[in-house]
Amino acid sequence: MSSSPRSSRYRRAAPQPLLQLEPLLLFARNFVKHPRMLGSAIPSSRYLIERLFASIDFDRAHVLVEYGPGVGPITGALLRRMRADAHLVALEVNAELSAYLRSTMRDTRLHVVHASAEQADHALARLGLARADYIVSGIPFSTMPASDRGHVVRATRAVLQPDGAFLVYQFSRAVLPDLRATFSDVREEFEPRNIPPARLFYCAA
Ligand SMILES: C[S@@+](CC[C@H](N)C(=O)[O-])C[C@H]1O[C@@H](n2cnc3c(N)ncnc32)[C@H](O)[C@@H]1O
Repeated sequence: MSSSPRSSRYRRAAPQPLLQLEPLLLFARNFVKHPRMLGSAIPSSRYLIERLFASIDFDRAHVLVEYGPGVGPITGALLRRMRADAHLVALEVNAELSAYLRSTMRDTRLHVVHASAEQADHALARLGLARADYIVSGIPFSTMPASDRGHVVRATRAVLQPDGAFLVYQFSRAVLPDLRATFSDVREEFEPRNIPPARLFYCAA
């Protein structure tokens, strides 16, 4: 085992195989059943994940929240980068996907909650956690009623630390007016090497 200071502070999982069939099929099957809930038939690419992570300071992040982890491509990557004493609260509204995550990602820092994003404050409170340093979201805002979209964005702002950030990836700009109305600073990026190509919004509290 390596004895470098970094490896003693950070718990890194073994590298994942590039292509795992079971989660791909599970995700695609759920997309066929619930297209508006999933918003995409294919999990996020590593290019999208790398671009998202460029805005996260993993050294200072103690509480991270993920909305809509799906089969966990971002969840697994977050766990590989997070501090050993950090927490990741993953809110997934789909019962089959949250059960899959619970059974496949066994890590004491991960708390999978079968609930919708707007219940983040209850989920954090039940775990004895105050506010989040980062919230990462891939839930399909474009398929939600406009009032729900605004509600989730404002509820997110309320559970972030004053210096926290909301990182959103989407396939449309539908949520951008809500983000701009709620956050002090919103930066936009684009990742063409994802299927479909994705927009990213970095929102500072
Ligand atoms: C585009 S998929 C992203 C999945 C995964 N994070 C990825 O990057 O591949 C959206 C996910 O959000 C979940 N979802 C949709 N609405 C949600 C909500 N209101 N709260 C929590 N999860 C939600 C869906 O079930 C699905 O797993």
